[in-house]
Amino acid sequence: MTAVLEVRGAEKSFPGVKALDGVDFVLRAGEIHALLGENGAGKSTLIKILTGIHEPDRGEVRVFGQAVHFANARAAIEAGISAVHQERNLIPRMSVAENIMLENLPQRLGFVDYAEVNRQALLWLERLGLEVAPERAVRTLSVAQMQLVEIAKALVLEAKILLMDEPTASITPHETDVLFGLLRQLRDQGAAIVFVSHKLEEVFALCDTVTVLRDGRNACHAVPLAEIDRAAVVKFMIGREERVAKLGTKPFDATATALRLEDVATSFGHAGVSLELRRGEILGLYGLVGAGRSELAKALLGVGHVTGGRVEVAGKEASIPDVTTALHRYRIGYISEDRKAEGLILIHDVASNIGVTIWRRLAGMLGWLAEGRVRRAVAPLVDKLQVRTPSLRQRVGNLSGGNQQKVSVAKWLAAEVDILIVDEPTVGIDIKTKTDLHELIWQLAKDGKAILLISSDMPEMVALADRILVMGGFRVLGEVLNDHDYGRMSRAIMAHIHEAEAA
Ligand SMILES: Nc1ncnc2c1ncn2[C@@H]1O[C@H](COP(=O)(O)OP(=O)(O)O)[C@@H](O)[C@H]1O
Ligand SMILES: [Mg+2]
Repeated sequence: MTAVLEVRGAEKSFPGVKALDGVDFVLRAGEIHALLGENGAGKSTLIKILTGIHEPDRGEVRVFGQAVHFANARAAIEAGISAVHQERNLIPRMSVAENIMLENLPQRLGFVDYAEVNRQALLWLERLGLEVAPERAVRTLSVAQMQLVEIAKALVLEAKILLMDEPTASITPHETDVLFGLLRQLRDQGAAIVFVSHKLEEVFALCDTVTVLRDGRNACHAVPLAEIDRAAVVKFMIGREERVAKLGTKPFDATATALRLEDVATSFGHAGVSLELRRGEILGLYGLVGAGRSELAKALLGVGHVTGGRVEVAGKEASIPDVTTALHRYRIGYISEDRKAEGLILIHDVASNIGVTIWRRLAGMLGWLAEGRVRRAVAPLVDKLQVRTPSLRQRVGNLSGGNQQKVSVAKWLAAEVDILIVDEPTVGIDIKTKTDLHELIWQLAKDGKAILLISSDMPEMVALADRILVMGGFRVLGEVLNDHDYGRMSRAIMAHIHEAEAA
């Protein structure tokens, strides 16, 4: 089949980093081509070169056989390339439909034809199975809904070349299935699709071909997935065999309750939520997206509020008005699911992002001294999590997505909290870092912290949690004592979910 897109010898440097160091990439019509690699390998940089966001320092890009030099993002769209970027690019105060149609707003008599905008947007919302009104403001949507709007915005251009940078990182398995159905249909109609994901099951289910980048170079190039297995792909990605998390055993003190909820109701609509989290325990909150898990965490931390029942921290009734009080008075930390929006201050550097929560402990020093102290406290964590950054002075917004997440996690490790709520801690994180993070979370619990783990990743839940509470419809549906047997545990969890659906 013909190459619709060809990259030869692409190089791109940023201050202190060579993001691409001679990358080749060939994409053909009628294929879904997986672009893989660990966080920081250069995937997003390649995609940004193909969409006119970055200019390569060296190398050649051909689209439909023609050498191209995109002056800007518009030029790439005009050449027939559409993309879903890893970062969010929606305009929050505008409607869903306006965002989807932004590149191509239908006009009538010189004015934007809003009826037509909404009509065309709705077609794509329906194809993606997203049930939100086209008129709704994007800022009122959930993370998953926003992601689907991003995807609709790329699909609506009906480009022959479609680049998708981690499109499934924050959507549900069901939404992923619907998306995959659509992508297969587009491929069969002759579109060429690049698909970036850390979920190898997805890659093997969807893609035809794979290119792996490692440290800005090709670890392999356009290999048919039918000829390669998971172990080989992982080896291309990390340069050696996959390592399994070593978790060992972790006894915990069943009497020391760190957090207790009794019959709690919230402003988000939770009712009758009771749970007990002990020191040294990892309590899982499993549920499908929309089950109300993140909202429960937010209500507890004063983003939203508790409207009924009783909350106890370390045996005493607690009333938590805001996140700062949660952290400083109750020593509760929260690693948000929506790290893009909440967790990090992207224009600040790595050191101040990690240091922000320990700043108070170090306050009172002279400014320059405090800064030195923060750096000393932060450096070992950057090391431990292997954050890929040229220096602690690098702006977090310039790190790769996965490395941004590591900074977010490091921030809370530095804060030395007693209770840590971690919300989807490894979404969008590569295999090796995921293993590192699992070991870290486990170690934190072993050191006596109480951990509330929110995750939709069943293998992660079964690997880490001591007990699993299954949530659905803003209530607790049931509890599963985890024996770490994946088959048995996933069946027990799904049984609670199906029971609730049947009722
Ligand atoms: N705008 C930028 N400024 C500075 N460094 C950057 C910028 N964009 C990416 N990088 C660096 O380039 C490398 C590759 O990043 P990226 O392409 O985002 O990786 P991936 O998408 O594979 O995780 C990383 O080390 C990242 O920190
Ligand atoms: Mg990326």
